[in-house]
Amino acid sequence: MKVSPSLISAKLEDLETEIAKCIEGGATSFHLDIMDGHFVPNLTMGPDMVKAVRRCTDLDLEAHLMLQNPDKYYMKFIEAGANIPLIHVESPINTGLLIKKISNQGQRFGIVINPETSLEKALPFLDDAYMLLIMSVHPGFSGQKFIQDAVNKIREARRYVEGHGLKTLIEVDGGITLDTAGICRDAGADIAVSASYIFSGEVTEKVRLLTRL
Ligand code: DX5
Ligand code: ZN
Repeated sequence: MKVSPSLISAKLEDLETEIAKCIEGGATSFHLDIMDGHFVPNLTMGPDMVKAVRRCTDLDLEAHLMLQNPDKYYMKFIEAGANIPLIHVESPINTGLLIKKISNQGQRFGIVINPETSLEKALPFLDDAYMLLIMSVHPGFSGQKFIQDAVNKIREARRYVEGHGLKTLIEVDGGITLDTAGICRDAGADIAVSASYIFSGEVTEKVRLLTRL
């Protein structure tokens, strides 16, 4: 399956090497967890960090926007080099309006749903979305345990996407290891996001193992 390493757990003092190791292992994109301390109780990177990542790779950069105001900031991340903004349907703004705006710009984007959010909430946007990201942990921190209910949601999403002849990719994020990635792939996921599993060991080998699923 496709693998999108989340750099939240990478060695930030040696980002260039970490990124190179992921690419050698076959990473197909990178996942950037952008947290504002409000939408989730954690703070991570801003646009300058995204610029630094962009200088290290030409692969797609997903900006997972865990922000109260994604409408206010998404362009900053795109200008910094992220080319797939991922928008939570739970953001406390008019998500429909924002997604329409992004879509009208001809911008590739993804829709994100939290573990407690039903797939129905994402359906109105799936026709235009490049990907659907199904969260398998509550967003905010890496290193959490995979929530099994996500598997049914992936199955449901796969049925919907195929049933409607859509090209939307299905991505899963949170608690991904070799085991849980395999389960998600079998359920119909196309892409696995992984942070702590990949960056807690032999990075190249870990990515390679995931890509072979
Ligand atoms: C959670 C983030 C995830 C997370 C993944 O808020 O969206 O991308 O960092 O970390 P692991 O793979 O360690 O669960
Ligand atoms: Zn994420």
